[in-house]
Amino acid sequence: MTAQDRAPEVRVFADAAAAVDVLLGEVRAALGRRARPLLGFATGGTFHPFFARFAAELQQGAIDERAFVATHLDEYLGFPPDRRGGMVHELVSQCPPFGSMLVHGTMVPVPHDGDPERLRAHEERLQRLGGLELQLLGIGRNGHLAFNEPGTAFELGFHRTDLAESTRQDARARFSPEEPPQRAATAGIASILAARRLVLCAFGAAKAPAVRRMLRDPVGVACPATALRRHGNSLVLLDRAAAADSGLDAAPAAG
Ligand code: PGA
Repeated sequence: MTAQDRAPEVRVFADAAAAVDVLLGEVRAALGRRARPLLGFATGGTFHPFFARFAAELQQGAIDERAFVATHLDEYLGFPPDRRGGMVHELVSQCPPFGSMLVHGTMVPVPHDGDPERLRAHEERLQRLGGLELQLLGIGRNGHLAFNEPGTAFELGFHRTDLAESTRQDARARFSPEEPPQRAATAGIASILAARRLVLCAFGAAKAPAVRRMLRDPVGVACPATALRRHGNSLVLLDRAAAADSGLDAAPAAG
């Protein structure tokens, strides 16, 4: 660690399901901190257990969908919300209340054409909505955050990018029998670090090397997730398998 490190709080759980209560607590805390906050959600299998619970809370009225504005991190180029495989499509499938929020303009999708002007306008729109109060994050096996693949400058805002080969491999099943896309539009590291609170989740042994690099490697573009250590208000939720390479023990009270 260097003097500039602003280490995230790390909590290790027996399994992924045990972290869902903490994620719901983070959403509730964000709703309590400010009126109609902008909440940034993340896609990927990591968040499916969370979305099952979150959708139920919205459908039962335990959380009011009018109490927040939703957005997300990234989208494959050429994937409008109704196209299977796309990120907004996934979010609405996992959490159907996002469908009506999309209609009402309170779910703000990342422009799927990747046009630089539209991406700039999207970033400005997020600012006009008060900026992100909370951003949920996954991590790629290669250490990517959103689609900031290794080597991407931390200074970038929303931008168009080529996907790394490991990212495309990991996405293969969701597009089968088609080939996974090559390109996406993504929040940049600067966009992500602008959120007031970051909560990153990683579950499963396949993520253990990336988690170790995120927490232990020098901060830099070789492992984009190390940018979390520049933030100062971040939380990392792991299961034991994802924590295994990092020399962390499960906190007995964490679950
Ligand atoms: P996953 O994706 O949740 O499907 O593992 C996370 C990511 O690649 O950022």
